[in-house]
Amino acid sequence: MQKVLFVCLGNICRSPLAEGVFRKMVQDAGLADQFEMDSAGTASYHIGEAPSMGSQQMAIDHGASLDGQRARQVKASDFDEFDWLIAMDQSNMNNLLRLSPASANKIRLLLDFSDEAQKEVHDPYYDNNYAMTYHQVETGCRGFLAFLKSQAS
Ligand code: 4NP
Repeated sequence: MQKVLFVCLGNICRSPLAEGVFRKMVQDAGLADQFEMDSAGTASYHIGEAPSMGSQQMAIDHGASLDGQRARQVKASDFDEFDWLIAMDQSNMNNLLRLSPASANKIRLLLDFSDEAQKEVHDPYYDNNYAMTYHQVETGCRGFLAFLKSQAS
């Protein structure tokens, strides 16, 4: 069993989409019983809110679902509970490292698992470019799952 926490700032745009996309990928690969995933934000602004409409629409357009997700903030126990804390951008990653320096080995950038030069997932909160965010999330999740499968074999 691998437990994965996707992390962004508000937990309403990028990390909920990553959670939903990764869940669908794992299900499609027949690996649903081997993974648990969740998402959280480093900030508290949007606690309790559903994912943004743009992220929900991107998920629907690509056969994934964000139903039932509600924003929460990263908490201290997450660093023990999860095997991986996957940050959407460098600022989120720095915040996670500051909260728990001892967990550095399980804190990674999602796009470190892609070949793309850009290593930060685009934040669509201000410009609504959810298509770019989806593409990066999909690429990163695919690379991350391939990495985990290669580790397991
Ligand atoms: P997210 O996007 O971190 O991908 O959920 C944002 C959500 C909220 C804010 C910024 C980014 N905000 O400033 O409230």
